[in-house]
This record gives sequence, structure tokens and C-alpha cells, in this order.
Amino acid sequence: MTVSSLALFIALIASLVLGQYANSTGNGTFTNPILDAVSADPWVIQHDGYYYLTYTTNDNITLLRSQSLTDWNTAEKKLLWQPPKGMNYSTDIWAPELHSIDGNWYVIFTADPNNDTPPPEVDMWCDFNCPAVFHRMYVLEGLGSDPWAAEFTYKAQLNTYDQFAIDGTYFRHSSGLYHIYSCWYRQYDAWPANLCITKMSNPWTVGSNFSERQILSIPTNPWEKTPYGRPFNDRLSSNEAPQQLTNPTTGQEFLIYSAARSDNRNYCLGQLELVGDDPMNVQDWRKKDDGCIFYQNAKEEAYGVGHASFTKSPDGKEDWIVYHGMRDPSNGWAARTIRAQRFEWNADGSPKFPRPGYGPYGVPSGQR
Ligand SMILES: *[C@@H]1O[C@H](CO)[C@@H](O)[C@H](O)[C@H]1NC(C)=O
Ligand SMILES: *[C@@H]1O[C@H](CO)[C@@H](O)[C@H](O)[C@H]1NC(C)=O
Ligand SMILES: *[C@@H]1O[C@H](CO)[C@@H](O)[C@H](O)[C@H]1NC(C)=O
Ligand SMILES: *[C@@H]1O[C@H](CO)[C@@H](O)[C@H](O)[C@H]1NC(C)=O
Ligand SMILES: *[C@@H]1O[C@H](CO)[C@@H](O)[C@H](O)[C@H]1NC(C)=O
Repeated sequence: MTVSSLALFIALIASLVLGQYANSTGNGTFTNPILDAVSADPWVIQHDGYYYLTYTTNDNITLLRSQSLTDWNTAEKKLLWQPPKGMNYSTDIWAPELHSIDGNWYVIFTADPNNDTPPPEVDMWCDFNCPAVFHRMYVLEGLGSDPWAAEFTYKAQLNTYDQFAIDGTYFRHSSGLYHIYSCWYRQYDAWPANLCITKMSNPWTVGSNFSERQILSIPTNPWEKTPYGRPFNDRLSSNEAPQQLTNPTTGQEFLIYSAARSDNRNYCLGQLELVGDDPMNVQDWRKKDDGCIFYQNAKEEAYGVGHASFTKSPDGKEDWIVYHGMRDPSNGWAARTIRAQRFEWNADGSPKFPRPGYGPYGVPSGQR
């Protein structure tokens, strides 16, 4: 045996052993969806040997915990927070996210008062009818290092200058903490829904004022409009659900967002990259205008894929996307379920997502 063929032999044995380990229970595969329930806007974080999942339940914030990223049907489940009645944040509890910042836990979420039914003398100001005019962003705080044991209490509303705000997330950067969310230009626009950024002084306080707020992205491309390519008026054209995604090798910072409209087949993911030093400077962001980077796959009946969150395999070696999608695109929001797939990276450092589907796929590496 030559030295190089010996090395090849060792590599082969190692890959068989590791592959065996990764797939050591069941047949080593999983299928989508990963939760057998109508569910949308998934958000996953890995912490101390567990994955934590939360998603939109509308009425409360529910937290699930599991050692498996790809099977949530038997996961532990707890009520993280129940909104009080009669407040500006009592209904339509959407897109919660759980973040660990400076040793404590923060849940950032969307809510509105009384299912946001604007009276006629509010609605009259809107360019189109505007049932989302009172949607705003809020924060809960849970002290300590354990998100399962922490008691979460209402902390604050995030200042969005008394304007529409949904799907907010934190963007972490060496220059500080930022709030990036889906916004309108003005209080009564209704459409388009853009992506806005403001600077925070802590996880529950926006430090920048309205004149400093920047619009990072507007749904201007045909694939961001609803229906596709709509030539005039911006009704239903959205940029929403922004998520920070860092390339673990190059350190490049991406903002992956959802485009078009969440209730139909064309919902998809778009990409911005921070190519300069200042997240508050619009010129420091580069938008990928030429199309969605993750989108419907008719061959596998996977439609309306978006609102993603990102995590790693248990051994930290693989990157995974958790997103929602629909098998039957004619059923709108009620057709959505939560799915997961492995993704890789392109040579230019941007994420390389697979086509969405149902599997079976290999389980995440290191998952028991
Ligand atoms: C686990 O098994 C599946 C199906 O055979 C395969 O696709 C996947 O690559 C395996 N995973 C690992 C880490 O070897
Ligand atoms: C693996 O197990 C899953 C769930 O039991 C099943 O749906 C799938 O068909 C199996 N795959 C193979 C290749 O046996
Ligand atoms: C949270 O809200 C969902 C949706 O209404 C409901 O099914 C679930 O029972 C609620 N959880 C608790 C603990 O009340
Ligand atoms: C509730 O929301 C309305 C509309 O944004 C606002 O004018 C009012 O001050 C809010 N109430 C509280 C208690 O924050
Ligand atoms: C907003 O902040 C900028 C920079 O700190 C300041 O110059 C400006 O006067 C502020 N505007 C308002 C309306 O407070």
C-alpha cells in the first residue's frame, strides 16, 4: 500500500464510522414537515445540547425543546408567555424569536390590539385598506442563562415611530445592536412592506430617531411583487421576516428575508449582504436583485417557502435552514407547515440553499 492509498483508506473508514454515528438511530432519515401541525414563522436556536423552537400560534408564545432538529412531534412544550387582555399587544402574536444577549434571554415578537380592526376614520387615511396599521414590535425578558427555566415578563415596545412594524429581528454587529423589521414608508401606506433598520441602545430600546431610520430594501423586483411582476401599484408586495446569517468561514454578513406574499406560492427568500462597515448606511448593503435564492419547487409540491431561521447540526458541522412552506398553495396561510433542510455555501461566500422538498433526507450530523 502506498502512503496516499493508505490515507485514502483511512479517510474511507473514518467517513463510514462517522456516517454510522450520525445515523445511529432509526434509519437515519427524516421527512418534512418536522412538526405535524399547521404552523408558520419558525424560529430555532441551539443552546446547551437542545434545540428550542417557537413559531406563530397567534394567541400566545409557546416554546418547544428537543435534542432532535428534525422531529418536533414528541418535543417538550411550554407556555412561555400569555398576553394580558386589552393591551396594544394582546392579539395576533406573530413571529416570536428567542435571543441570548448579554447573559439574558429576549423574545422579540409582533402583536396588535383587538386583532387590529381599524375604525373607518383610521382606515380612510390608508392608500388601500390597512388591517395591519397598529401592528408593532415588542420585547419580553427572561433573566438567567437557561431559557427553559427563565420566567419571561413583558419588557417594552420597540420604537417604530408609531408606524407599522412586523417580523422584527436583532442584527448583531461590531458597531452595536440593530433592529431590522418590516416597515411602511409612512403611517398609512399599507404597501409596500419594506425592510427598515434602527440602532438600539439595548435589546429593548431603540436609540436612533425617525430621521435616522433607514430603509434597506423595497420590493422593487418582479419576484418581490404580488402577483409576480405586477406592473403598477404595490399592493401585497412585501419584504419581511429578515434574519441575520453569518458565513462561518468568511465572516460575511447576510440578511436573508422573505419576499412577495406569505399566503401564496410565490413567497420566497431574497438576500442582502453587508459589504461595508455601517449597517445604518444603505450604500453598505448589496441586494441580490436577480431573483429568489430559495423558492417554490412544483415538482415536489413545495410552495410558498419562506420565513426562515438558521441553525447548525448538533456537532456544529452542518448548516440548516428551518422554514415554512405549503403543499397546497390554494389554501393560503392555513396550508403552512414547518420544514428543515441542510444548506451549503457558494464560492462567493453566499448561502447555497437546496430545492425545497419533503425528503427523506439524512438527519443532521451528530443527531442521536
Ligand atoms: C444518513 O443517512 C442518509 C440516508 O441514507 C444519508 O443521506 C446521509 O448522508 C447520512 N448522514 C450522514 C451524516 O452520513
Ligand atoms: C425511514 O423512516 C421513515 C419514518 O419511519 C420513513 O418514512 C422512510 O420511508 C424510511 N426510509 C427508508 C429509506 O426506509
Ligand atoms: C397557545 O395558543 C394556541 C393557539 O391558540 C393554543 O392551541 C394553545 O393551547 C395555547 N397554549 C396554552 C398553554 O394556552
Ligand atoms: C396604543 O397604540 C396607539 C396607536 O399606536 C397609541 O396611540 C397609544 O398610545 C398606545 N397605547 C399605549 C398604552 O401605549
Ligand atoms: C435625530 O438624531 C440626529 C443625530 O443624532 C439629530 O441630528 C437630529 O436632530 C435628531 N432629530 C430629531 C427629530 O430628534
